[in-house]
Amino acid sequence: MNAIDLRSDTVTKPTLAMRTAMAQADVGDDVYGEDPTVRALEERVAALLGKEAALFAPSGTMANQLALGSLLAPGEEVLCERGSHIVNYEGGALAALWGAQTNMLDAPRGLLTATQVRAALRGPGHEDDVHAPRQRVLGLEDTHNRGGGAVWPLAQLDEVAAVAHQAGLFVHLDGARLWNAHIQSGVPLARRVAMADTVSVCLSKGLGTPAGSVVASTRERLPKLKRLRKRLGGGMRQAGMLAAAGLYALDHHLARLAEDHANARALAERLAEVPGLSCEVSSIETNIVLVNVKDRPAQTLVAAARTEGVLVNAVGTDRIRLVLHLDVSAKDIPEAAQRLSRAARAA
Ligand SMILES: Cc1ncc(COP(=O)(O)O)c(C=O)c1O
Repeated sequence: MNAIDLRSDTVTKPTLAMRTAMAQADVGDDVYGEDPTVRALEERVAALLGKEAALFAPSGTMANQLALGSLLAPGEEVLCERGSHIVNYEGGALAALWGAQTNMLDAPRGLLTATQVRAALRGPGHEDDVHAPRQRVLGLEDTHNRGGGAVWPLAQLDEVAAVAHQAGLFVHLDGARLWNAHIQSGVPLARRVAMADTVSVCLSKGLGTPAGSVVASTRERLPKLKRLRKRLGGGMRQAGMLAAAGLYALDHHLARLAEDHANARALAERLAEVPGLSCEVSSIETNIVLVNVKDRPAQTLVAAARTEGVLVNAVGTDRIRLVLHLDVSAKDIPEAAQRLSRAARAA
């Protein structure tokens, strides 16, 4: 029995065609700025995102942290939603690397409102108050991972960012799954991130490359991002092989994200019928399905699902997360639902 792996969209394996593109990549030493394929990827992503400059990074975590490190000084504050990746899954990097503190707000599906952000501002003149941390950055995430792959309504995104900008804060957008938000909403990538001072995107999630992320911003910020990348050990040499996978993915794997979204909804519809599970089908917008587990710990279901040949992750004590991706096709959905249904009966 082949396991159906729904733990994350990071588990995909590069296709033969992607591996061929990687093997054929023209490469050079990227720390010397001599890798033509990395340069081509950076230029392509900068153009797609409507930013002046972009920098290749080994991971989404590093791309986020390069951006945040370029904006923050020790003792400063990042406003963000409590479920953000930058808070929960980056090893405490904001505090450990940049000496920043976080001010976390709760929001349904991870989507803050302008009123909420306005209420959390420390106000004009706080920078001169010796008691107050300087508020420097608003961190947003689109799609929101812990929010169940939620896509920001564009007007809300713009409004929240405008409140931050008016108060003198920078806006960083964690766009690890920005591609999904773009495909789901039909809003051009550059338009979706027009409000962001810095933005990160991942190539190794829905797009299916083995590694790689890109951080985009202004031309002026690029040297700082590069310096921080080197300092963190993220300066790679013949990285063009990885960049080639990214270029290939942008050509061949972007539009198909719609299939992952349809598969997520189809799976959610089936799971909503399973006794012991509950799932809000109408909230499924992209490739992430959150399922509430009744009457027993989520981990019990995770273990039972593994026995049945489906790999999933728990999010907290009473929820599991299923993520659809390139290596799960529409015809796998009925089988995945059946296995999960058996697991729910067994758990
Ligand atoms: C929203 C979000 N941001 C950033 C990352 C970090 O990416 P990486 O695992 O490449 O460090 C992830 C990874 O899952 C993510 O979901």
